[in-house]
Amino acid sequence: MTSYRRLDPGSQPERLYEAYRSTIQRNPRKPLIQIPQTLSEVTGPLYGHNPIGETDNDLTRHHAGEPLGQRIVVSGRVLDEDGRPVSHSLIEIWQANAGGRYRHHVDNHPAPVDPNFTGAGRAITDADGGYRFVTIKPGAYPWRNHSNAWRPAHIHFSLFGPAFVTRLVTQMYFPDDPLFPYDPILQSIRDPQAQQRLIARFDLDTTEELWALGYRWDIVLRGHEATPFEE
Ligand SMILES: [Fe+2]
Repeated sequence: MTSYRRLDPGSQPERLYEAYRSTIQRNPRKPLIQIPQTLSEVTGPLYGHNPIGETDNDLTRHHAGEPLGQRIVVSGRVLDEDGRPVSHSLIEIWQANAGGRYRHHVDNHPAPVDPNFTGAGRAITDADGGYRFVTIKPGAYPWRNHSNAWRPAHIHFSLFGPAFVTRLVTQMYFPDDPLFPYDPILQSIRDPQAQQRLIARFDLDTTEELWALGYRWDIVLRGHEATPFEE
C-alpha cells in the first residue's frame, strides 16, 4: 500500500497567523489528532467524472464576446512527491476579472463586472501530467483584513490527485508582484522557498505571438517540494 510523508514544518500556512485575521477564529483551540493513513486515504475517492467540455479550459470563450484584460496562457505539470506525472486528474480554477472583481454575489466592491467573463474553468491533466488554461490576468482586489488591504493578483486552483491526502486547494501568483510583502495569506507560509512554489514564472515559450502572454506553474502534490495549501 502506498503511504504519503507528513508535510514539512514551515512549508504550509500557519494555522494561527494573527495578521491574517480569519485564522484567529478558524484555528482549532485543541491540539490536532494525526489520523493514520489507511487504504481509504491513499486510494480515493476520485472525483470529476463529468466530461470536460471543449472550452472548459479556455475562460475567454465562455460568452458571446471576449473578456477585457491581458490574455494569458497558464500551463504546467502536476507531479507527485517523487516527480512522477499525475495524469488524468481534475484541475479546477477560479479567479477575479481584469478589474479585480469576482462574479459572485458577496463581491460588491466598486469594480466593474465583465459580462464576458465568469472566471471559472476546468481541465484534466494529460498522460504527462500537463495542463493548460487560457484566461485573462486577474486584477488585484481590496479586502477587509486590515486597513487598505489588497490581495496580489492570483488564480485559485483546486486539485484532487489520486487520493484524499493529495487534495490541494491553493493559489497561483504572478512574478514580481509588489503586494507580496503586504499579503498575510502568502506571508503565513514561513518558509520562503515554499512561498516561491506558489509563484508562476513568465515563460516566453508559453506565450503565443501576437496573442497571449505565457506563464508556467508546476504543482507538486505532497512531499518535500509540495505546493503549499492556501485558502
Ligand atoms: Fe481570491
